[in-house]
Formats: sequence, structure tokens, C-alpha cells
Amino acid sequence: MQSAALRVAAAALALSGLSIAANITEWKSRSIYQVMIDRYARSDGSTDHECEAYLFCGGTWEGLTKNLDYIQDMGFTAVQISPIVKNMEEHTAVGDAYHGYWSVDNYALNDKFGTEKDFKDLVDELHKRDMLVMVDVVVNNMAQAFDNIVPPKVDYSKFNPFNDKKYFHPYCNVTDWDNATDYQDCWLYPYGVALADLDTNSPAVVSESQKWIKELVSNYSIDGLRIDAAKHVNDEFLPQFVNASGVFAFGEVLTGVTEDMCRYQSLGLLPGMPNYLDYYPLDVAFNGGSFEGVDEMRTQAKTGCSDVFALGSFIENHDMPRFASKNDDLALAKNAMTYVLLNDGIPTVYQGQEQHFKGNGTPFNREPLWQSGYNRSAPLYALASTLNKVRNHLIQTSDAYLESGAETVRADTNHLCLKKGPAGHQVVFCINNKSSKGDSYQFLLDGGFQSGDEVIEVLGCTHTTADGTGSFKSFQFDGEPRVYVSRSALQDSGLCPTTIEAKSKESGAVGAGAATGLLAAVVVGWVALFLA
Ligand SMILES: *[C@@H]1O[C@H](CO)[C@@H](O)[C@H](O)[C@H]1NC(C)=O
Ligand SMILES: *[C@@H]1O[C@H](CO)[C@@H](O)[C@H](O)[C@H]1NC(C)=O
Ligand SMILES: *[C@@H]1O[C@H](CO)[C@@H](O)[C@H](O)[C@H]1NC(C)=O
Ligand SMILES: *[C@@H]1O[C@H](CO)[C@@H](O)[C@H](O)[C@H]1NC(C)=O
Ligand SMILES: *[C@@H]1O[C@H](CO)[C@@H](O)[C@H](O)[C@H]1NC(C)=O
Ligand SMILES: *[C@@H]1O[C@H](CO)[C@@H](O)[C@H](O)[C@H]1NC(C)=O
Ligand SMILES: *[C@@H]1O[C@H](CO)[C@@H](O)[C@H](O)[C@H]1NC(C)=O
Repeated sequence: MQSAALRVAAAALALSGLSIAANITEWKSRSIYQVMIDRYARSDGSTDHECEAYLFCGGTWEGLTKNLDYIQDMGFTAVQISPIVKNMEEHTAVGDAYHGYWSVDNYALNDKFGTEKDFKDLVDELHKRDMLVMVDVVVNNMAQAFDNIVPPKVDYSKFNPFNDKKYFHPYCNVTDWDNATDYQDCWLYPYGVALADLDTNSPAVVSESQKWIKELVSNYSIDGLRIDAAKHVNDEFLPQFVNASGVFAFGEVLTGVTEDMCRYQSLGLLPGMPNYLDYYPLDVAFNGGSFEGVDEMRTQAKTGCSDVFALGSFIENHDMPRFASKNDDLALAKNAMTYVLLNDGIPTVYQGQEQHFKGNGTPFNREPLWQSGYNRSAPLYALASTLNKVRNHLIQTSDAYLESGAETVRADTNHLCLKKGPAGHQVVFCINNKSSKGDSYQFLLDGGFQSGDEVIEVLGCTHTTADGTGSFKSFQFDGEPRVYVSRSALQDSGLCPTTIEAKSKESGAVGAGAATGLLAAVVVGWVALFLA
């Protein structure tokens, strides 16, 4: 597969890699909130608007701009948004182009989502908040409504810039998902819409795509890209495209096979990819399986992929059924959220995950966020805020935190406990699949603390002390995740200002440190009132 042209391109990417490396470094320190514009917020802020899953629901760039506090207050430092260019306007048997993936004009913005000024205002506002913007781009195809009579009759003159048949692969339907030539050169999913497959091998398409992405990134001050269907364009296209963009990119490579994923990094084709390697074994562990598969995959990925820190850690996105569509137990969702935000790599949380949305396959996994009323009291919203605070704090206080790979402390059928960060600045976190019906028990964890260290469990604000060997007791109940950091490493983080002693559920402590602090304040207040 590794042609001479590919080696040249990869070598050139490595050589000219300085600017890209800087951006990789920047991106690795971020955590991303993924937005589908049509479903995030409407310009008028209305939350009672009903919508059809297959049609436009009215979300806009302005709606997002006005609702950035919701994302920033959860601790996210970057936003990934759905594609921004003009799409086809026809109605099809598979719905309208509300998601933005059906491009017809790469040089015009999608006016369904607002004006050019609206989009620039959004990026400005993100940058003012020191947040980065990642934009989803489609390079594999252009789109046209299709009456399902093959071969599709495509009016190429409607496309800008690829306004001629000569820029496209001749029609064939992808049928062999194990044959790269087939799934790269044939047309994806011809039903209701024809995804006319660009001939990304041809010099004309290659150079035009590079010119376009360079302009797009510069015109709109974009900080990073998600390249849709990256696996469906030829290898050689990718490194040159990423290099031309001048920014970091995730390429979508939908595979759970280590070699198929990791080759994109080892051959220098893409800097990062959403981490589908972890996704599948996690899905298994939370749905009747064991965490041993997750641990095994982590070992494979660490040796197979050249940079696990540039993978995007996720459990939900706009393509997969929601986590809660399979099991809506809240404790399980908390464990999944904990893994995503504290694991190696760039955490990516998809809008609605923090509201425990339950939609099944596409398009039902794209519920408008306004249905939640943007409820900041939602338990997963609070959890994401705390976890982002922990991660952001450890990144700020330790240069070595991000690239110190998470190590397994305990892995068995029901648990996975990992330790990430250098000694003194490590977080030790345990996830489990017991669900909220989980029993009460305890185990000792060797998380690399010093004898006598005070260890805080930051989700319940409880404390315990590391014993003579540095190990500490982890109390498990109700299937909740546990996240431990030493008290000294939490200094100035604002987390857990007061703590209570960790205990088993039977002995009464239910991890209500914050509530206890509040109660104490109320009591002090009453005393002050009586004295006055
Ligand atoms: C990389 O991206 C960051 C974040 O937008 C930007 O500030 C920086 O200038 C870029 N670095 C280089 C060397 O291009
Ligand atoms: C394309 O191939 C798939 C099988 O991969 C098949 O289900 C589908 O009907 C085919 N579509 C057309 C339009 O031939
Ligand atoms: C792979 O797919 C291409 C394009 O459809 C086809 O020409 C080729 O024969 C296939 N190769 C194998 C080994 O099946
Ligand atoms: C970028 O802006 C220039 C100048 O306005 C314009 O000519 C060009 O078409 C724009 N490119 C893209 C990809 O939007
Ligand atoms: C990478 O980008 C730089 C700057 O835009 C350019 O000079 C160089 O030729 C590009 N290399 C490749 C392999 O495209
Ligand atoms: C957790 O793992 C056990 C052991 O593999 C399994 O029996 C159980 O079904 C899993 N729990 C959930 C909620 O999937
Ligand atoms: C917000 O979420 C909290 C916690 O789940 C719930 O108690 C409250 O009723 C919700 N508020 C609204 C307006 O739905």
C-alpha cells in the first residue's frame, strides 16, 4: 500500500511538521465539545421548538455564539462544529441536509446556519474565550438528491468547484468493505442521495482541495479540522491536505482494528483520529461484557499507534447510537464520561451526552439540545464540569501530565482503574460496569502515592490517607466512578474545599462533601444571626 508518492508526501509532512507539531501540542491540551449546528441552539433562544429528526430544526451559528457559556462552564476548551459550506437543498428519501455533510458549493457558507458575519462572530467569540474551533470538512464527495435509479444521473455543473464529471470516479456502489480500492473509489450509500465520489487521486482534485482548505482555514481563522470519511479517500491525499491546511486534524477512520487505525499515524497520513479502537470494547464492557477487552485494546493501541495522545477519546458522536439508548442507567453513563475525560488523548463529548440523551441510530441520536432546557443541574453536566476542572488543573500544574501515558492499576471483568500523570500530579480513576444497583465493597489501590499522602476522591469530596506502602482504600457502592488526586496536587484548583472521611456506604458516608460544607455554612450563618 505504501507507494513512493506516499513516502514522499509523508516525509515532506514530517519535515515541514514544525507548525503542525505546535498545533498538535495545543490540541492535546484541549477538551472538545462536539456541536451539530442545526440541533444546538436557535438564534431566538427558544427551547419549545419541536422538530422532525430528518428535517432542519433551525439551529444556527448565532444560536451557538449566544450559548457558549453552557459549554465553557462545563470546562471545555474547544468546540467541534458540523460542516459549514453550502449544501444541496432538495428533499430526499433520507431527509434534508440539516447535518451539513451534503456539500454542493465549497466556496459558499451554508446560509441555513446564518451569514458570513454570524460565522465570523462565532469564531471571534470562541477565540475571545481562549477556545479553539474545529470544523468538520467533507473531501470524499459532493452530493445530489437521487431517485434510486442507477447509475445516478448527476448534474455536475451544479457543483462548485468540481463542476465536471472528469473530477469524479465513475459510478460504482461500494460493496466490499475489506477492499480499499472498492471503498475508496466507489460511491458510498447510494440511496436517496448520491455521494458523487471525488477522484482524489487526480492532480486537479488534489491541488484544488489544497487551495480550498488553505483559504477556508485562513478566511475563517479555523484552528483544526475533522476530516469526514477520511478512510474513504486514498492514502496519498491525506497528508498533503492536512499540510496544506496548516492546522491539526482528526481524520474519521471507522475501524476497531488496531493495524487499520494505527497505520494512519505510523505512515504519517493523519496526525489524529477519533479513538474508535477504545469505543468498541467500551461498548462491550458496558453492555454485558468485561473491562478486560478494554485493557487489552489499550495495550495494543499503545504499541500500535505512534501517538495515542492525539487520538480523540469518545463514547458518543453523531454517527453512533447514544450510550443510553442501550442502557439508560445513570451510573453507567457517569463511568463512561469519566473514561472519556480522563483517558489519554483529546476528550470529545458530543452535545446531549451531558443531558443523558437516549436517541438510537442516526438521525435519532441528533436530538435538539434545547429539549433539555440546557439544564446545568443535570448530573452528567456537573460531572463533566468537575472532570474537566481536574484535567485542566493537572495540565496547568504539570508539564508532564498530558504525555504521561495512563497505566493500568486494576483491570478485571467489572473494573478498570487507571493512573495518569507523573508522581505527585497523578489522577487515579476507577470505572466499573455495576450500574446504580452496584453493591458495596472496597479494595486497595496502589496509585503511586507516598505513605501518609492525603488522597481526595473528587466526585464525592471524601478523603483518605495512603498507607505505609502508598496504597489507599477505594470504597465502591452504587456503581459510581471514583477519581483520586492527592490533596497537595489539588491546591488552588477550587475543587473540594472541604472533605469528609471516606467510608463504606454502610457506615453512612455517601460522598456528600460539598453538601456538608454547605450545611456547615448554613449553621454558621444561623449562629451569626442569633449572636447579632
Ligand atoms: C497552532 O494553532 C494555535 C491555536 O490556534 C495557534 O495559536 C498557533 O499560532 C498555531 N501554531 C503555529 C506554529 O502555526
Ligand atoms: C449498494 O450495495 C449495498 C451492499 O453493499 C446494497 O445493499 C445496496 O442496495 C446497493 N445500492 C445500489 C443502489 O445498488
Ligand atoms: C477491489 O475493488 C476494485 C474496485 O471495485 C475491483 O476492481 C478489484 O477487483 C477488487 N479487488 C479484489 C481483490 O477483490
Ligand atoms: C476566501 O476569501 C477570499 C477573499 O474574499 C475569497 O476570494 C475566497 O473565495 C475565499 N475562500 C473560501 C474557501 O471561502
Ligand atoms: C506543506 O506546506 C508547506 C507550507 O504551506 C509547503 O511549502 C509544502 O510544500 C507542503 N508540503 C507538502 C508535502 O505538501
Ligand atoms: C459488567 O460485567 C459483567 C461481567 O462480564 C457482566 O456480567 C455484566 O453484564 C456487565 N454489566 C453491564 C451493565 O453490562
Ligand atoms: C434539571 O435537572 C435536575 C437534575 O436532574 C432536575 O432535578 C430538574 O428538575 C431539572 N430542571 C428542569 C427545568 O428540567
